[in-house]
Amino acid sequence: MRSTARRRTFLGLVLTATGLIAGCGKGGGAPGQDDGIVVGFSQIGAESAWRTANTASIKAEAARRGIELRFADAQQKQENQIQAIRSFIAQGVDVIAFSPVVETGWEPVLREAQAAGIPVVLSDRAVDVTDESLYVTFIGSDFVEEGRRAGRWLAEATGGQALIAELSGTPGSAPAIDRKQGFEEILSAHPGMKIVKSQSGDFTRAKGKEVMESFLKSPEGATLTALFAHNDDMALGAIQALEEAGIQPGKDVRIVSIDAVRGAFEAMVQGKLNCTVECNPLIGPQLFDAVEAIVAGQSVPKRVVTEEGVFEAATAAEVLPTRQY
Ligand code: AHR
Repeated sequence: MRSTARRRTFLGLVLTATGLIAGCGKGGGAPGQDDGIVVGFSQIGAESAWRTANTASIKAEAARRGIELRFADAQQKQENQIQAIRSFIAQGVDVIAFSPVVETGWEPVLREAQAAGIPVVLSDRAVDVTDESLYVTFIGSDFVEEGRRAGRWLAEATGGQALIAELSGTPGSAPAIDRKQGFEEILSAHPGMKIVKSQSGDFTRAKGKEVMESFLKSPEGATLTALFAHNDDMALGAIQALEEAGIQPGKDVRIVSIDAVRGAFEAMVQGKLNCTVECNPLIGPQLFDAVEAIVAGQSVPKRVVTEEGVFEAATAAEVLPTRQY
């Protein structure tokens, strides 16, 4: 593997000290422990239950395979991700993987990785670049299809009649852009379904609640019959806001969201959420399959799409015990 153990150790210590990088796996890069695969992973943050499960899957799979993982939490900031990627380049890791918080603005740093000969894997979210040779593969969900699935479910459940509030994800992020696109594609065939309020809740429960409260206070608040939340955490926050306003979530306002985390199943069992579209965060095994293949010089598909389902309240109690996240 790339032999820059001393440099890795120095930078690893500096970055751990600044709180940006946490080593896990074998030994944290001490001199002489340079014989295995070293992966630098820049995670977005810990904004949702989905993200927590995704991080756990990645860390567990790296440990299981004896891969040294240099893990950096970007706390939802693109500049922190760029800084982490630059540090991974300086450390001479074997592969860089990251989950980009937004789609644009990556070309310069990806060119630096390419110039250093370090392959890059996109995990969970895509980037918007003109040169696709800047990354080797993208492993993650089809977010447009997730948006379509949410739209189809709502059209069916409401007979094509709904005044919809939309809680969208982080502005400029692939899931926010793509889920909206897929959802609106379905709406275009249903003139009785309209998005009357739309705002970002940044994929967090707290922001979902706050934005829903402001929707309810707006002139359109009393007319809303449905909610499309780009993730479960925002839907769970919105459910709280609806209840505090004396509105029955799941009944007065039909709710569909995305992720299929345990909290969504619990809300469905209580009749407060109607449907969740699955977005699978457990992509550690696929990620490290790709990493090992790349390091072994094998070719990998440019796009690996994770398989996902749709779950309704009617089956929530039965499915809940089987959920892994
Ligand atoms: O990129 C996947 C999305 O990011 C999940 O739907 C959301 O919960 C997370 O924050």
